[in-house]
Amino acid sequence: MKILILHGANLNLLGTREPEVYGSLTLESLNEKLIAEGQKMSVEITCQQSNHEGTLIDALHSANEWADGVVFNPAGYTHTSVALRDAIASIEIPVVEVHISNVYAREEFRHKSLVSAVCVGKISGFGWMSYKLALEALVEMLNL
Ligand code: DQA
Repeated sequence: MKILILHGANLNLLGTREPEVYGSLTLESLNEKLIAEGQKMSVEITCQQSNHEGTLIDALHSANEWADGVVFNPAGYTHTSVALRDAIASIEIPVVEVHISNVYAREEFRHKSLVSAVCVGKISGFGWMSYKLALEALVEMLNL
C-alpha cells in the first residue's frame, strides 16, 4: 500500500512556527515518524509539502495515479480553497483531512472547512499525532 502525506502552506516552518499552537516537532521529524509508522504497517509513505495551491492540486492529481490514499493538511487553504476542494472531489482515492491544532477552539474563520465534505474523514487537535491517527484510520479503511 502507498500513502501520500501532503502538507500545505507554512508547514515547512513546523518547529519554529507558533510552537505554542503547532508544537516543537519539525516537518522533517514529523515525516520521519510517519514513515516509521508506515513501516510498522507495511505501508510505503511519501511526504510532500508546498506553500502553493497549484502544486498541492498537482500532487493530488498525481497521487490518484500512484497512491492508495492521502493524508492531507491543507493548512490555511482549508478555509479558502474551492480549487483544492474540487481537486479532492476529482480524484478517486480517499483523502483524510488533518489539522495539528483543534481548529474549533480557535478563531471563527478556522471553523469552516471547504474540503471536509469531500474528504472521507477529519482529525483535528491532537498535535502531530493527528497525522498518525489519520494514517492508521486510512490504512484500516483501505484494508477493509
Ligand atoms: C492547521 C490549521 C489551519 O487553520 C492553519 O491555517 C494552519 C494549520 C493545523 O494543522 O492546525 O496552517 O491546518
